[in-house]
Formats: sequence, structure tokens, C-alpha cells
Amino acid sequence: MNPMTDKPPAEIGAAEYACRRSALMEMAGEDAILILPSAPPRVRSGNSHYPYRQDSDFWYLCGFPEPEAVLVLIPGRAHGEALLFCRDRDRDREAWDGARAGPEGAVEQHGMDDAYPIDDIDEILPGLLEGRSRVYYHFGRDADFDLKLIGWVNRVRAQRRQGAQLPHEFLDLGYLLHEQRLFKSRDELRLMQYAADISVDAHRAAMAAARPGIREYELQAEVERVFRAHDGWPAYNSIVGAGANGRVLHYVNNNATCRDGDLVLIDAGAEYRGYASDITRTFPVNGCFTAAQRALHDLVGAAQAAALAQARPGVPYEAGHAAAVEVLTDGLLRLGLLQGSLRKNIASGQYKRFYPHKSGHWLGLDVHDVGDYRIDGESRLLEPGMVFTIEPGLYIAADAPGIAEKWRGIGIRIEDDVAITDDGHRVLTAALARSADEVEATMVEYAQGWNFGR
Ligand code: GLY
Ligand code: MN
Ligand code: MN
Repeated sequence: MNPMTDKPPAEIGAAEYACRRSALMEMAGEDAILILPSAPPRVRSGNSHYPYRQDSDFWYLCGFPEPEAVLVLIPGRAHGEALLFCRDRDRDREAWDGARAGPEGAVEQHGMDDAYPIDDIDEILPGLLEGRSRVYYHFGRDADFDLKLIGWVNRVRAQRRQGAQLPHEFLDLGYLLHEQRLFKSRDELRLMQYAADISVDAHRAAMAAARPGIREYELQAEVERVFRAHDGWPAYNSIVGAGANGRVLHYVNNNATCRDGDLVLIDAGAEYRGYASDITRTFPVNGCFTAAQRALHDLVGAAQAAALAQARPGVPYEAGHAAAVEVLTDGLLRLGLLQGSLRKNIASGQYKRFYPHKSGHWLGLDVHDVGDYRIDGESRLLEPGMVFTIEPGLYIAADAPGIAEKWRGIGIRIEDDVAITDDGHRVLTAALARSADEVEATMVEYAQGWNFGR
């Protein structure tokens, strides 16, 4: 990607947010009310906070970036269906913490039908609950907010003698909303493609910087420099594991030295305007795979190709994992890492000794995105607009008993992001070198100073 010529895509517009809210309200029905708080700010230490990340559901429905806000959706309400409670404008606080939209800005810039100061919510919300029979809300996610909601309901209960009608059904909001979020719109796919493009560039930067002696955190710095240079953030903690660290699935120390002869596994993806990408590549620090490293890398690549061949509408989501497991197990038998029959090794789960995780997950506003994988006990069928990762791997313990020395301590994963289209799929991360040959060729080019326009 060339930041001078590849313009970032448009952000999600007010019209799409309004469509999302309408679709959700239609599913919830006329007598419902839906309540979504923004994410709370989180303390890192002392007076210092983690960078603020808006709650994904809240963001999906209104794109409002500030904390201390509550979105309330009231289907069919004559005086406005989409209401936001948010912080008032405050000259002094804004001088410390940055600009606020205020209720006026929430209406003018964010398309709300009406907005009120968050300090007034205790006064106003019981009146909005009154007369609605069903409340959709994420119970159990934020204990403080749960208590507030109970308090507002009790305020309505106290008015029952005066004829107030109390909500009597409390329903999980995720049931409706997460099914909606599973299907990405054209504009969402554009943002996800951009997040993927940033991540492809970031992995290239790491491949270009790799050399024996470099520290894992220096490669992490290359990756995250590219994220920030394109206004992205890490969508999750970047994993940079050299040698046997590549086997640690959630490795975050990233502080070891990359030695000559090591593979380095980098699992890192940018988040752009809330949308995640998620890429893993495993490449030789010195630019050349050993025969054993290449054999395992080829096997993981073949497993990924088999899973990818299942990525089209109408195929069960779980078919991709089953295909990857079959290819991996067959290859492990051929290489002498497993013994016995293919069928028995799969049925008994023996392959899990080397491949303990699943082959992917939904991808979207969350890196492990929302949406059911099974419906009525059966794997759901793929449909256009779904986006997920395909990420098979192999991990051989450094001290694995009965395993030839040449395999030990190798960890390999290959992960790409895939969108289901009307007639098949599109790999959002296809531009990044993937096979051992492609990776080696790319690293030669970088070593010779070609083809890498920073
Ligand atoms: N990086 C998180 C995952 O691959 O699932
Ligand atoms: Mn993943
Ligand atoms: Mn990943």
C-alpha cells in the first residue's frame, strides 16, 4: 500500500448507522426498549488510562467515540427513536481531555433524534422504560450498569399504583445484535480491506527488518510503526515469537533474540476505525527455511489451502476446520510425527498434540467477532458478508519425547482473513507472501533493497 496514493476508505456514514438501528429495532418490536452503555475508561496505573476503546456494539449502532454515554433505542416512539445520553460540553474539562460533542453535537454530527446530558439519565430513563414491555440489554457485562438499570426499573415499579406499566421481559441484546453484526456491509468490507492492507504492509516491514540478532520487540516496533503510520492500532497484542517462542499461542513477552536458523512467528493485525485484521506469518530470520522448517511450513500451507477451498456460500463453517485437520494429520503421518491410521488419529484427537486450536474465528469489530458458529446444534452454513480467519498451525515442543531432533521447537501458523462473496470468497490479506517460496523470494528482495517503498 502506498499511503500517498491509497486513500483511506470513507468512514461509516450517518445513513448506515441509522439503517443498522432501524433493522435492530424492527427485530426487537414496537413494545421494546434497547439500552447500550459506552465502554468504561480503564485505569492502567495511577492516573494513567489505557487508550480508550469504544464498546463494539455501541460503536456499531452510533459511531459515537466518547465514554460516559448511553444509547437508548425506542422503536416507534413518536418523539424520536434514537436517543443518546452523553457528557455536556465543558470548557475546563475539554482543555484537559479534548473536545466533546455534547448533546447538540450528538444530534448534529451523529444523527441522533435527541440527546441529553448524561447527568440527567436518572431523571429521564425511568420515564422511557414506562409502558415498554421488553428490555434488551447486555446483562452481566457491566455490574455497575446492571445495578443502575435495576434502580430505574424500581423507580417505574414505585409508580405502579399511579398506573405505570412495568417492563416484564428482560432479554439478551446480543441475541439480535450479534447476528446482525456477523454480516458485513459493503462499507464495512472496505474498512476491513484497509485494515488488512495496513497489516500486510506491517508484516512486510518486519520481514524486511529481520536478521539474526534482532530482538522480537524490534520486529514488533516495525509492525506497529506501520499500523500507526496509517492511523491504525494493534487490534490485539502483537505476538512476535522467535524459535520455540513461536509455539506459545498467546506469547506477549516479545523480548528474546532472533537467532540464525530460527523461524519467527508474527501474529499481528491492525484495527482501523474499529475494524480488525488478523494476520500470522512465520518466516526464517535469516531468509532461508531449513528442510524440516520448510516441510512443516508446506504442510500448514496445504492445510490452509484445503480450508480455503471450503470457503463459499452454502458450506458448513466447520468444513474448513475438518479439511485442515485431515491435511495436517495426513502430513504428520507421512513425516513420521504420528503413527497409525488417518481415521484413528483424527477420531482420537491425536493430532491435537501438534495442532491444539481451531482453524479460525469470525472477524469484524472484535478480532474474535460475535456471531454463533452453530445453530440448533449444527454448524451454520457460510453466507455472503461473513468474514473469518483461516489459521492452521503446527507446534512441536522443544522437549517432545519420541520426536526427531530436527522437528523440535518449531512453531508455525499461517493466518489470512477471508470474506465470503456471492460465489466464493475473497482473501483480504492475499497480497502478503504466504508460501515458503514466496516468503524467501520476498526476503531476498528486501535484503537487496528492492521493492520496498516506505
Ligand atoms: N491473534 C488472535 C488470533 O489469531 O486468534
Ligand atoms: Mn486469529
Ligand atoms: Mn492471529
